[in-house]
Amino acid sequence: MADTGAGTGELTGTVAIVTGASSGIGEATAVALAGEGATVVLAARRADRLADLAGRIAASGSPGGALARPCDVTDEDQARALVEETVSRFGRLDTLVNNAGVMLLGPARGAPFAEWRRMVDLNLMALLACTHAAVPHLVAAAAEGPRGVADVVNVSSVAGRVARSGSAVYNATKFGVGAFSEALRQELASSHVRVGLVEPGATITELATHLRPEVRHATVGRFAGVTLLEAADVADAVRYLVTRPRHVAVNELLVRPAEQEG
Ligand SMILES: NC(=O)c1ccc[n+]([C@@H]2O[C@H](COP(=O)([O-])OP(=O)(O)OC[C@H]3O[C@@H](n4cnc5c(N)ncnc54)[C@H](OP(=O)(O)O)[C@@H]3O)[C@@H](O)[C@H]2O)c1
Repeated sequence: MADTGAGTGELTGTVAIVTGASSGIGEATAVALAGEGATVVLAARRADRLADLAGRIAASGSPGGALARPCDVTDEDQARALVEETVSRFGRLDTLVNNAGVMLLGPARGAPFAEWRRMVDLNLMALLACTHAAVPHLVAAAAEGPRGVADVVNVSSVAGRVARSGSAVYNATKFGVGAFSEALRQELASSHVRVGLVEPGATITELATHLRPEVRHATVGRFAGVTLLEAADVADAVRYLVTRPRHVAVNELLVRPAEQEG
């Protein structure tokens, strides 16, 4: 994974949760936020990967450090426990990065319905559960914390702005994330809880490894000759959103590989 570079310490004293921190964009985001001084709670199912990442963040000399917190965020109780235990342990929650997601593409006709349910459960329902649990604590952090601001960052996708044949339910989940984010943004604006959306284009991660082989072949073929984003490129966008001064809300960042057309 590419290094995201040294931070400014802007997030020192703050606490962040990053879901899907065991690989890809979530892992890079955790490194980036720790580099800014935040204490980062690392959430995903693969405990070994989280423990390894927590060790690397500690070794980097980050003042806030990181806590590996294995959980399945599609289980509402586990999602709520992730938030509540973070606040009990560290006393606050300033930043929630809803990043965990799965992309199971392919024609809608004949698709296994279990794939659709898996995407809705993780990309939408788990994001809603984490956000629902986190909002009261984010409002408190914005009201009482030294920065006077807190952040929800939802990792959507180009697929949250452009629907394509073969991506119907992934599009539905990511468009849903966009709609939820905008409505919540309006509701929380006066509380200084910013709600931002990061919409990556094609990024080198494990995401495509979950595709059925025939679908994977077509998806990879679509980006032949395109230099894809690194996870750290997307993490940079998340870091940008959450390190803005209190009076600046960057609501949406669409980040594509320079050569990606659609
Ligand atoms: N890569 C791209 O091209 C691209 C483009 C646009 C948008 N995105 C979005 O970026 C986000 C991150 O994806 P990525 O590309 O970094 O893929 P990734 O490497 O596959 O990461 C997905 C993460 O989600 C976690 N996760 C999956 N199920 C979970 C569950 N039930 N509970 C908790 N964590 C769970 C995975 O960890 P465990 O398996 O350990 O639980 C993993 O850490 C997703 O929302 C995706 O839609 C990616």
